[in-house]
Amino acid sequence: MAKIGYGIIGCGNIGPVHAAAIAAVPSAKLVAVSDVVEATAKKLADQYGAAMYTDYRKMLERDDIQAVCLCVPSGMRMEIAVACANAGKNILSEKPLDVSTKRIDRIIAATDKAGVRLGCIFQSRFAEGSQKIKKAIEQGRFGTLTLGDAYIKWYRSEAYYASGAWRGTWKLDGGGALMNQGIHQIDLLQWFMGPVKTVRAQTTRRLHEGLEVEDTATAMLEFENGAFGVIEGSTAIWPGHPARVEVHGTTGSTYTEDGAIKFWQFSKRRATDAKIEAQMNRESELGSGAGDPLASLKIEGHRRQIDDFTKAIKNDRPPLIDGREGRNAVALIEAIYKSAKTGRTVKP
Ligand SMILES: NC(=O)c1ccc[n+]([C@@H]2O[C@H](COP(=O)([O-])OP(=O)(O)OC[C@H]3O[C@@H](n4cnc5c(N)ncnc54)[C@H](O)[C@@H]3O)[C@@H](O)[C@H]2O)c1
Repeated sequence: MAKIGYGIIGCGNIGPVHAAAIAAVPSAKLVAVSDVVEATAKKLADQYGAAMYTDYRKMLERDDIQAVCLCVPSGMRMEIAVACANAGKNILSEKPLDVSTKRIDRIIAATDKAGVRLGCIFQSRFAEGSQKIKKAIEQGRFGTLTLGDAYIKWYRSEAYYASGAWRGTWKLDGGGALMNQGIHQIDLLQWFMGPVKTVRAQTTRRLHEGLEVEDTATAMLEFENGAFGVIEGSTAIWPGHPARVEVHGTTGSTYTEDGAIKFWQFSKRRATDAKIEAQMNRESELGSGAGDPLASLKIEGHRRQIDDFTKAIKNDRPPLIDGREGRNAVALIEAIYKSAKTGRTVKP
């Protein structure tokens, strides 16, 4: 079967990561890119020998594009996603799917109606460590889950927030340290621990005074299964630490840093644990966003997810992370913001 043709809308920071990842998937081909800034689109198009558009609608007219990567600012996706769905294109969107569950529901409805696939990038799920934890949970190796935590103690400079007028705004970023940065680990936490039943949270600004949104947040969680947990997220901690996700239960315990397992112990040891223990000092295969969004981000997570999305189209199956899965993290972050604003315990 021919390669699946991709188009990219938005060629800023993350668009080139998608282009490099598509180029590394044998059954995918980058056909065209689009950006409202002509020079930005041209640079990426020239690099990959792709066609170039400043109006994404024109790009959507092409029959040789089956999938579109949405790499525009978060709060601009709904209108573009609806246009992609109406043009019959499968959509792989960057995180968050959009800035509110209301807008995300309109994307899901449009893609359902058009019968196209909707995927949401959460590359951290494709880290080997994340996959191993999910499997161990499914196998019941942790016993009764006790605590699940996400710590995203990162740094973003003033220059980062100034690098795009949309950054750090409610309308187009949808929030701050949680909605833009911590969302990867918040997604992982619910994927591992299951849905959150209630949340009690607080948010503040400690470094970025002019910012509309939070640069620091904490949340106390109760999961539907009865386990507790916390989320701590910040972009005001210099120099920034690897993002950590912890899962603890009555018969096992683990934590990862940037998706790489750093602790792995179970009361009933299995032979396969030796291999995981031997790799525990290995660096994350996904890189880290601790101090800068791109400086050490590797394309491997995006490559694995684009490979899955391409196979989903070829084999006529849903992608591993579909629109409804993508929605979950935004729903929890909305509840965190509501709790911080009202001082009340909130149900997502
Ligand atoms: N998965 C990750 O690790 C990761 C990392 C960085 C960014 N992101 C996400 O990617 C998205 C983009 O972030 P970024 O840092 O690349 O932003 P950016 O500002 O660097 O790039 C966005 C690009 O979209 C273009 N654009 C705006 N409106 C457009 C339109 N109508 N048609 C075509 N192009 C348009 C802009 O000109 C700009 O070049 C955000 O939602 C962010 O959350 C994800």
